[in-house]
Amino acid sequence: MGNVLSDYYERLVASGDLEADPNQRRVMDLFGTLGDQLSEHQAALRRSALASLFSPRIRAPNGLYIHGGVGRGKTMLMDLFFHQVDVASKQRVHFHEFMQDVHSRVHERRQAHSKGFVGGGDPIPPVADDIVRKGRLLCFDEFQVTDITDAMILGRLFTALFERGVVVVATSNRHPDTLYEGGLNRALFLPFIAMMKDRMEVVSLDGDTDYRLKHLNGTPVYYTPLGGSTDAEIQGIWSRLTNSERGEPASLEVQGRLLEVPQSAKGVARFSFADLCERPLGVADFLKVAHNFHTVILERIPVLGPEKRNEARRFVNLIDSLYNYKVKLIASAAAAPDAIYPAGDGTFEFARTVSRLFEMQSDPYMALGHGAE
Ligand SMILES: Nc1ncnc2c1ncn2[C@@H]1O[C@H](COP(=O)(O)OP(=O)(O)OP(=O)(O)O)[C@@H](O)[C@H]1O
Ligand SMILES: [Mg+2]
Repeated sequence: MGNVLSDYYERLVASGDLEADPNQRRVMDLFGTLGDQLSEHQAALRRSALASLFSPRIRAPNGLYIHGGVGRGKTMLMDLFFHQVDVASKQRVHFHEFMQDVHSRVHERRQAHSKGFVGGGDPIPPVADDIVRKGRLLCFDEFQVTDITDAMILGRLFTALFERGVVVVATSNRHPDTLYEGGLNRALFLPFIAMMKDRMEVVSLDGDTDYRLKHLNGTPVYYTPLGGSTDAEIQGIWSRLTNSERGEPASLEVQGRLLEVPQSAKGVARFSFADLCERPLGVADFLKVAHNFHTVILERIPVLGPEKRNEARRFVNLIDSLYNYKVKLIASAAAAPDAIYPAGDGTFEFARTVSRLFEMQSDPYMALGHGAE
């Protein structure tokens, strides 16, 4: 298996589908080793006369926990492994959906219990049994814990899963030590972190390249005029950057107020011009956005008449903030940058914005890393 996986990766590199990446190779090798261990484990279980009754007595191999920044290839490598690995009983799930499913199962069990249908009050063991039936190799994409209800259930659930011989593979943007950081009652969560580290090898996949962003290279980032086809282009870029149709709403705290972000995912925020420039927002808000997101999608910038001086001023401040933090801007507008605000107060300052809007479309700008100097 080890060789099969590495060979497969090298073929993808040779055919030009993937760029050679030493960090990815290293993770691929670990996946290969895990694949071999899983095959051996499966065989040992089959040989064991007790297999069907006491299979967990033969300790399953440790899983893998791959963490790193966005776009490094974590999901891609896990999926390569998942499809190639010769294990019959496997499931690959998005962690968020998995937890939703767990909560509804726990809820069902509790309800059945309170109505006297099922004996035994603890819902965790039967829920763990249900999960194991769907696959002993559990591959989680985007492991994260932000919610106290998840945090409180995970320790007991994973104890039950590991007791049943489950092997867990996960991708995450966080090292286990920083999961649920700052969360309520975090001390109760720490044993779960220790268990993860005991049952999974923790590896970082954090090369310099965000491949998702890199794939944008050469893609136009400023779309005009407005209309259905522009909206579709922007939606296409959004999906490529975030692997999702829609993002989650978020709110950022700015000077004791909350700034609403209509959609966000994977370090990308999506606003309309109206969301940011037609409301009483200022530099502090824009800096917060610039600080928190490596890419901003700004849709439907209109042509601004002289009476729109406040909107124009906010737009200048917004672009300055994004520019200073080297945030990537993907925009749709009614006109080219130099035709957005042709006349009115502050057109002199606006000239700098126009120049920046052009520069922000260039390859050298797009290649800069996120953040202030
Ligand atoms: N070595 C590579 N060469 C070319 N493209 C790559 C390479 N590695 C990954 N990619 C591509 O980059 C994109 C991002 O990869 P992937 O989704 O696996 O990242 P990720 O680490 O899971 O990111 P996130 O943390 O945001 O979920 C995918 O389209 C993937 O196919
Ligand atoms: Mg991923």
